[in-house]
Amino acid sequence: MPHPYFLMSLLYLSLVALGALASILTGLEIIPLFGSLKWLRVHLVTLGALSEIIFGLTPTLVATARRLPRPKMRWDIWLTLNAGLILLLIGIPTITRSLIISGGTLVGIAVILLIKQLIDMRSPQPRQEPSHGDGRRFYITGLSYLILGGLVGTGLWLGWSEALHIASPIEVHVHTNLWGFAAVILAGLLVDLYPSFANRPLAWPRAIPWIYWSMTFGALGLIMGPWLNISLFTVIGLVLHTLGSILLLVIVIKPLLGDRAAWTPGVWHLITSYVWFFLPVVVAPLIVARATDFPVQEISGSGGPILIFGWIVQFGYALVPYLFTRFFEPDQPARLGGTWLSLASVHVGAVLFWVSLFFPNVEQISRALAYGFWILSGLPILIGLWKGFRAGVQRVEEGQAVSPEE
Ligand code: HEM
Repeated sequence: MPHPYFLMSLLYLSLVALGALASILTGLEIIPLFGSLKWLRVHLVTLGALSEIIFGLTPTLVATARRLPRPKMRWDIWLTLNAGLILLLIGIPTITRSLIISGGTLVGIAVILLIKQLIDMRSPQPRQEPSHGDGRRFYITGLSYLILGGLVGTGLWLGWSEALHIASPIEVHVHTNLWGFAAVILAGLLVDLYPSFANRPLAWPRAIPWIYWSMTFGALGLIMGPWLNISLFTVIGLVLHTLGSILLLVIVIKPLLGDRAAWTPGVWHLITSYVWFFLPVVVAPLIVARATDFPVQEISGSGGPILIFGWIVQFGYALVPYLFTRFFEPDQPARLGGTWLSLASVHVGAVLFWVSLFFPNVEQISRALAYGFWILSGLPILIGLWKGFRAGVQRVEEGQAVSPEE
């Protein structure tokens, strides 16, 4: 039963919208900047919304792919995760060591319990349809990276990066979570869900293990590079991870070629979100090559929101409404979310944020506009999600009101 997780993800997504509004107001100096805003903006999306959805969804997806009975709601995992998140949301902005340690530990325990649940879900018999995706190994690997990323993240304020001999702790944290956790898990979701939302199988199912291994080892290189301060590992990791991600997009795009009706705003959202995921790959060598001309610090230090809003949030615009319809309104046709307006505005927002990194004289206004466009793109989707959720709850309430009479 993923619903309690979906409700929490809605709560965090609503806070993301508020956070974006706060970014506009602080950027334009209408309200003073509060120190934790930057941390909250990133982690309300990644730890809040993304992890809740992954926790809710993955046991159900694995059970479906392996023809196992629908898994029972694990309230122990739900409670551990959400208690941990709340402690981190209080502890990190206020830099309270005891809360950061307890919060990080609880989130870590919740992830370990989920991994165990997924590992225990073995098929009673070998699967018959090789073309049907099985994202299980992507989820288990992505969640394992989350444990490592959470460990390094929890240690950022506690100083255990030195004990672990991590040369660049923030980079290790960001790489582990974005390339290890988020990218690998989103790849698993595409593998599992594509046949049902696109009404066709992925091209070349045999490419899926290649994608899995190149992304997994790629992420490892991207972590070991800044951990040991050996750039060669980072470069090899980046190349492997990018090749895996490109192959993933190829097997997603190929079956859609020539079918114009299939190119809905939702499909465009899913596919073009990867533009903002690949951008650091294109730009990193450029930065190295032209280090004296480019504002290197700016791009490496403040580029996070582009990845978060341009890639992860945009991916969610397509997939989350589809999932909500499937779970809350099962009698309605489930489609990927998004409209042409959300598609245009999310990209305009990312371009404007990108501009702000290169042109300090327009930084304030272009960042404020970027957040404005991101709010414009996301608000109708968020309202739609709340409506879907309400309809689902109403259905349950009416069902409960009727059933005792029957
Ligand atoms: C237990 C989980 C986590 C903890 C304790 C944690 C903690 C932290 C801390 C302390 C920072 C440094 C903030 C600063 O320098 O102001 C940070 C930065 C960051 N974290 Fe996490 N984090 C966690 C999970 C995640 C996840 C799951 C993701 C992504 C999927 C993520 C992505 C990032 C990014 C992109 C930054 C850089 C932010 C920026 O420079 O704007 N973190 N995290």
